[in-house]
Amino acid sequence: MGPNSPHSTRLVIVMVGLPARGKTYIARKLARFLSWLGYRTRVFNIGDYRRARLGNKHRADFFDPENADGNRARSEMAEAALGDLLTWMEVDGEVAIYDATNTTQRRRATVRERCVQNGLQVVFIESACQDPAIIEANIRETKLTSPDYEGMDPDEAVADFRKRIAHYASVYEPLADADAEGASYIKLIDVGRVVEVHRLDGYLPAKLLFYLLNLHVVRRPIYLTRHGESTLNEEGRIGGDAPLSPNGQKYAQALAQFVAGLPIQPEVFTSTLQRTIQTAAPLAVPSNPWRALDEIDAGICDGMTYAEIAEQIPNEYEARQRDKLRYRYPRGESYQDVIARLEPVIIELERQRRPLMVIAHQAVLRALYAYFMDKAPEDILRMEIPLHTVIQLAPGPYAFVETRHRLV
Ligand code: F6P
Repeated sequence: MGPNSPHSTRLVIVMVGLPARGKTYIARKLARFLSWLGYRTRVFNIGDYRRARLGNKHRADFFDPENADGNRARSEMAEAALGDLLTWMEVDGEVAIYDATNTTQRRRATVRERCVQNGLQVVFIESACQDPAIIEANIRETKLTSPDYEGMDPDEAVADFRKRIAHYASVYEPLADADAEGASYIKLIDVGRVVEVHRLDGYLPAKLLFYLLNLHVVRRPIYLTRHGESTLNEEGRIGGDAPLSPNGQKYAQALAQFVAGLPIQPEVFTSTLQRTIQTAAPLAVPSNPWRALDEIDAGICDGMTYAEIAEQIPNEYEARQRDKLRYRYPRGESYQDVIARLEPVIIELERQRRPLMVIAHQAVLRALYAYFMDKAPEDILRMEIPLHTVIQLAPGPYAFVETRHRLV
């Protein structure tokens, strides 16, 4: 069961679409979002099975539907991935994503039947593209860096990949009402220009739809920073709503200079606490205060130092040390609570096409960082997010690349 949902979840998302339609991009994004929300999620990518078991030197003719050996090998890989997926769902999983072309109705019916027999809900997500520019960009940006084409001349690789697409296209049957026969599906045309939804049922599938509606493929950097030092930071006290110290004000000035030097001015979000608003004040661009970005609520510990908590309420201190993710401060929040309230922030940050800057707080930034850098929340609970430092996340084909700028 997902941590923030009262519904039990056992869902298989089956990707559908020709090569170079962004299926893997979507699959990974969904997996990242769901894992971050606390659902045990895993992607099963057939291309990875093929490369791991059969090597990575397959050219277009391997994917020719007339090639009997190729067909057999490909169905074996599809079968191996599906078998592992079903086993994993039986033992441990809440959401599995089957990342393959699944381009024929027959194939989809088989996959669906196997999942349903195992008591699993199935949602198909098809990515269809009519815009040649999107396909071209996808081939150039992701396929040329694929291990399938390592060391090959880029133009030759593109030509081979186009042939591979043509082989799939010759047997492709897009999702349609008829083949769904009661199945749920979401069809995305040209990365969300048109979205078709068919018999979508349930809390999690609806959440996924909402997420997908906001997804785009425009690449832009994201800048994360804590506020400048506050007067409570100076004393080592947590929480509160203190103003900036003189040091913190210096950081606000330095940040304004940093932002002025950026090639494109970002959209800036702050929390509603003084220290982030004051940090954004010298910026030449306007900023948007957002309550969901406020620091973790330390409840009865607000305004205390860690040493005071350890001394005065040692049980609470130790409980937090034992399980920092789930520990909820009395009358306050846990990290899990923070993640749950950040969900709309993630949706908004995904929706925005401009560069973004978030000026917030340690716990909140750890949670956002986990999402963007695809880290398990458990692994970032003690991560350093130093004051007076901008964490720049620059977009790559599937992941962000991090650089830290210490400004003062
Ligand atoms: O100390 C600064 C601060 O932002 C506190 O306001 C907050 O309670 C804390 O960091 C969060 O970090 P941790 O979860 O490690 O206590």
